[in-house]
Amino acid sequence: MKLLLIFLLYATVLSVALSRKGLRSAAGTPKTPNVVPDGRPARLLIVGATGGTGRQLVAQALERGHMVTALARDQAALGVSHPRLQVLQGDVLDYSSVEAAVRGQDAVISALGHKRFVYPTRILSEGTRNLLRAMEVQGVQRFVCETALGIGDSAGRMGLYYTFFVVPIILPFYFWDKTRQERLIGASRVNWIIVRPGVLTNGAKRGRTRHGRTVGSYLRTVRISRADVADFMLNQLTDSTYLGSAPGICS
Ligand SMILES: NC(=O)c1ccc[n+]([C@@H]2O[C@H](COP(=O)([O-])OP(=O)(O)OC[C@H]3O[C@@H](n4cnc5c(N)ncnc54)[C@H](OP(=O)(O)O)[C@@H]3O)[C@@H](O)[C@H]2O)c1
Repeated sequence: MKLLLIFLLYATVLSVALSRKGLRSAAGTPKTPNVVPDGRPARLLIVGATGGTGRQLVAQALERGHMVTALARDQAALGVSHPRLQVLQGDVLDYSSVEAAVRGQDAVISALGHKRFVYPTRILSEGTRNLLRAMEVQGVQRFVCETALGIGDSAGRMGLYYTFFVVPIILPFYFWDKTRQERLIGASRVNWIIVRPGVLTNGAKRGRTRHGRTVGSYLRTVRISRADVADFMLNQLTDSTYLGSAPGICS
């Protein structure tokens, strides 16, 4: 009983700390005109292209007619070929490969993630620092980045099970790194939109997505398919509603 109480206290303190240290969704860059006008195919860099959301981003961006550059640690891992797709070998932790990939793009979309949960890492924050630096150097303005519900002022909104079990036991280091990642984005000079999804599924695109600052639930686990996340992220290239903010999304 005592152990349970200590654990609940730890989980609550962690959730409050994630909220207090994290990015406030409304605190963003001033609204500026789109850099990816409606109707024109854009040159997009997709980071995390070999992952679940990344693969959806690549497929849907190509369907929409964009010219896609995928950054991958293993060039062969994507396994997709298309006349408007180039795959560049690179690592977000290697600045020179990041800058080479960012050069000449209209926008960068990131679905960066990893599974090294059990020890502290800075892959998300340091990788994003490199992306932001390269974007500022190369004058690329639009950045759409996937993080997660539960970060910053969405703390607790992935539901009770995540707040009191998954995040404190499995994801504390990962969520701290995501918190750093979001703060770096918030402090950058690029035109950014952070997209915070609920728990990801591999379901089909439904196109019925709830989004906004108050999305999520403190009680039940909220979910969304990677296909719907990718669709929403690509929409952010031509929609300035959420510029400089971090909407949650779920189905
Ligand atoms: N799982 C969930 O329920 C959930 C919920 C909310 C938010 N999210 C977040 O959503 C994002 C996407 O998740 P996902 O499951 O769709 O993706 P994922 O399958 O975890 O894919 C992550 C991608 O990041 C790439 N990556 C990792 N380290 C890299 C590095 N150093 N340089 C370049 N690329 C690197 C991976 O490349 P490799 O193929 O080379 O490893 C992979 O393409 C993540 O940030 C995740 O935390 C997940």
